[in-house]
Amino acid sequence: MIFILHSFLIVWINRVFLYLNKGPLSGMKINGVHYQTIWEKESDPGMIQILDQRLLPFELKIADLRDPEQYAFAIREMQVRGAPLIGVTAAYGMYAATLQIAGKRDPEKFLGEIAGMLKNTRPTAVDLFYAVDLCLNSILQKSSPDERVDTALSMARKLKAESIESCRKIGEHGLELIRNLKEKKDGPVNILTHCNAGWLACIDYGTATAPVYLAFDQGIPVHVWVDETRPRNQGAKLTAYELSEHGVPHTVIPDNAGGHLMQHGQVDLVIVGTDRTTRAGDVANKIGTYLKALAARDNQVPFYVALPSSSIDWSIRDGIRDIRIETRDEKEVTHMEGWDGEKITEIRVTPFKSQALNHGFDVTPANLVTGLITEKGICEASERGLTALFRDKISSR
Ligand code: MRU
Repeated sequence: MIFILHSFLIVWINRVFLYLNKGPLSGMKINGVHYQTIWEKESDPGMIQILDQRLLPFELKIADLRDPEQYAFAIREMQVRGAPLIGVTAAYGMYAATLQIAGKRDPEKFLGEIAGMLKNTRPTAVDLFYAVDLCLNSILQKSSPDERVDTALSMARKLKAESIESCRKIGEHGLELIRNLKEKKDGPVNILTHCNAGWLACIDYGTATAPVYLAFDQGIPVHVWVDETRPRNQGAKLTAYELSEHGVPHTVIPDNAGGHLMQHGQVDLVIVGTDRTTRAGDVANKIGTYLKALAARDNQVPFYVALPSSSIDWSIRDGIRDIRIETRDEKEVTHMEGWDGEKITEIRVTPFKSQALNHGFDVTPANLVTGLITEKGICEASERGLTALFRDKISSR
């Protein structure tokens, strides 16, 4: 009881402080304690720690990563997930590889193999490939083992800091959309989101959630419709958890409910994240996103995608043809996991003889996207929109 009261007080003191300051977000919290999704263990250089997201929201467990294989496991098995976090975790995985090169007969071959292993974990989020290639290239430019370790560590730190800063800026740009909607209506701005594109998918703040947290902290009334996001329920488990911890009003809905709510004027805005956006503005995101975009278009509800530029794949235009969609274990569909009152437990929810199919992502074509909220501002979901904002990135490719 005292613990609940204490957490409640901390959340409110924080809200009042942020409201009075109208300042930027100060980092996301669990039980009032600031967490990021990945960090360096102070007492043990070489040890990286993460929140094991497979257990949330029921257990808060920290997992240790030291060997490159542990990083690959963490990404593949979704101890960490979400495009930006996958990228930063892989960058630390390359750092872990440099810590093992002293004494290796062919260090370059070893580093290439680790890079390959990390890239082989999940195929859709482009941040993974971007981070591993960037780290590998920088590491290979150095020749001594010590320099390679230093380079890898500073690269991972840089990518982590950039990810935090991008999310913070996405929050500031997206806030204007929410503020404008609030000016036109009474009551809270109702925002629908799919999957978890919150701080748990990034390092801090989130992408789709950053504008929501900022609006909330500035006293703009918001309410979030949280798609449960079968089969792994990232919405019901992770987004709902984040929002509860921050005190943001929200309601978990079955995946099929969004269209109905839109038809009845109960959704003012949709904001989702993305795992890979093509240079023409096609957006790959968690399976089911496309259906929300169709419903939004049919009901004239603005449909925005929030993304850091690390999620843009400048090498392709046609997302439906060229983005590789992850197929995951059918068991994620045939079974469900939840809290049985004492522990996390798994139950079967389909007939024993039925097969299942589990595509992790789908592609929403650019023409269904109202706009892209990036760290550099909001643009049209098109090659013209993206290239106008990111001329520097295009010229360096
Ligand atoms: O399979 P996941 O949980 O890694 O999928 C995550 C998503 O689809 C997110 O919406 C996307 O990565 C954007 S995260 C800011």
